[in-house]
Amino acid sequence: MAERVHRDFLTIPDFSRRELDGLLTLAEQMRTGAYVARPLAGQGLAMIFVKSSTRTRVSFEVGAVQLGAHPMFLSSRDVQLGRGETIADTARVLARYCQGIMIRTFAHSDCEELALHADVPVINGLTDRHHPCQILADVLTVVQQLGTYEGKVIAWIGDGNNMANSWIDAAWRLGFSLRLACPEGYDPDPAVLARAQATADVRLVRDPAEAVEGAHVVNTDVWASMGQEQEQADRVRAFAGFQVDAPLMRRATREAIFLHCLPAHRGEEVASEVIDGPWSRVWDEAENRLHVQKAVLAALMGGVPIT
Ligand code: CP
Ligand code: NVA
Repeated sequence: MAERVHRDFLTIPDFSRRELDGLLTLAEQMRTGAYVARPLAGQGLAMIFVKSSTRTRVSFEVGAVQLGAHPMFLSSRDVQLGRGETIADTARVLARYCQGIMIRTFAHSDCEELALHADVPVINGLTDRHHPCQILADVLTVVQQLGTYEGKVIAWIGDGNNMANSWIDAAWRLGFSLRLACPEGYDPDPAVLARAQATADVRLVRDPAEAVEGAHVVNTDVWASMGQEQEQADRVRAFAGFQVDAPLMRRATREAIFLHCLPAHRGEEVASEVIDGPWSRVWDEAENRLHVQKAVLAALMGGVPIT
């Protein structure tokens, strides 16, 4: 196949603010049913999973079908990647059959390596460092629920993990305020944080109450991410006092909503009264994965304009 110009989506800043707004608009058209085209008819989407998934796998698979493409779930346990075939060779071969590749893996550098060698768009479905599709869905949820992300204060409570890093990227690109409360030793990526703090209102504090003061959105995630299972006991100790419960939610603004990318551990990072209570928008948030990813697939694989 002749080399062609393509773009990847590995982190939020791969798109300009204008393009991100365009993706959100397109995603909303997908949600309401206003967009019914099948720009990916006849195309193939390879979906490599080195880590587990419920939402990412199902939403990409259904979304690709709705746009006319054929998605392929490729567990690293089954494909030759799991037996030592290199990422570069896997990328070169898959790009000969498929018009796009989605990957969920551990090292972010593996995702970058795949993108470097694939002559088709590569989409990051989560790495240890970033989860851009989820944050796009979260920002769409904020816009749906609060009308806009502009002027909003987002609070992040807990681990400075892949989700936190992508929220920081989004605050940098889109200009909303972000308050992160992370226990010492569990900070976000210093380079991601420093880049954002040069121009955006992004603050890292140690006290969850300080972070949620005046917040419109309160957001958390598991204390031990995929690959950190053996740290669970240490992390439960380190994150004591970081549970999002009703008293903490009451410190936020009156209209505040609660988001969680899921899967959730009730009684650890979030109390049942919050995730199952009136603040919670987590099911809409999960649904939005489908809509934003369809917008990304349509833009990157189908050439659908977003500006
Ligand atoms: N939020 C999210 O990415 O969920 P899965 O791990 O189920 O894909
Ligand atoms: N931080 C979590 C997100 C899961 C969607 C993890 O990486 O496991």
